[in-house]
Amino acid sequence: MQLRQVIGNRRSIRFLRPYKPVEPEKIQRMLEAARIASHWGNVQSLRAVVVFRDSADKETLEALMAPIAGFQIRRAPVVIVWYVETAAVDDQSDRLRELLKAGALGFGEGKEEELETKLIPVFEGILESMKQPGMNEIDCGQGIAQATLMAYEMGLGCCCLGTPFTEKIRENLGLPETSRVLLLQTVGYPAEDPQAGGQRPRLPFEQLFHMNKFGKAFPRVQEVVDELERDGMFQAPGPLPYREEELDFLQRALDIKGHGLL
Ligand SMILES: Cc1cc2nc3c(=O)[nH]c(=O)nc-3n(C[C@H](O)[C@H](O)[C@H](O)COP(=O)(O)O)c2cc1C
Repeated sequence: MQLRQVIGNRRSIRFLRPYKPVEPEKIQRMLEAARIASHWGNVQSLRAVVVFRDSADKETLEALMAPIAGFQIRRAPVVIVWYVETAAVDDQSDRLRELLKAGALGFGEGKEEELETKLIPVFEGILESMKQPGMNEIDCGQGIAQATLMAYEMGLGCCCLGTPFTEKIRENLGLPETSRVLLLQTVGYPAEDPQAGGQRPRLPFEQLFHMNKFGKAFPRVQEVVDELERDGMFQAPGPLPYREEELDFLQRALDIKGHGLL
């Protein structure tokens, strides 16, 4: 599958086959994709605990709480608890030294002294502030996005679930005090059609993106839109004609009929 097709097929899949386990190797591929994502200063603060419904203990399963459409957590074969480890920021100097050695800073040998006397002191001065919510979360998001695209390439479906209970989950799972739970991501084989009712509504392109200055819409060329449609990145908008029947069918099959949104 081409990348643009994978992007087009990445749609939140809320209905997963509860009876079909996910191979740990497929989850490994997701984690491998997350691990090589970009991160400021190569700090690599993204971490995860992967919970398999089949083998996790009761306390761990009960620790996973997400209030919006929470049925997903109770049915998913796998839940990835993504979290940010802010203590990773403490090792930033070593990460910079590794980057220099690897020739990834745009300079190679001979810059060691400059790194030690100029760049590292700058970063050491801002270490504590860099642990606050911000850049790390952006980079964690990039890692989660790469893992998600990998999942769809392998025929899996996922849904990210935000939760106000991050601190409770952190404590229940025994994660370090220096970490923050970001979100829970359900993973499994889709029970719904991969189109999941059709492409979701999005705000107009021109409203979101600007060229050269704010207020000047980035020009949207129709030929490009047509090409991306042909390549499967843009698909038919929801709701597809059968969506209501599909939802009714899925809710009965998963025994969540009448549960509502919470
Ligand atoms: C960070 C994040 C948190 C989300 N939290 C929830 C949630 O708590 N419950 C839920 O049902 N969907 C949740 N979603 C899924 C969004 O509702 C979904 O992405 C949105 O409706 C757009 O649909 P799409 O992902 O299919 O494009 C979350 C998505 C993201 C990225």
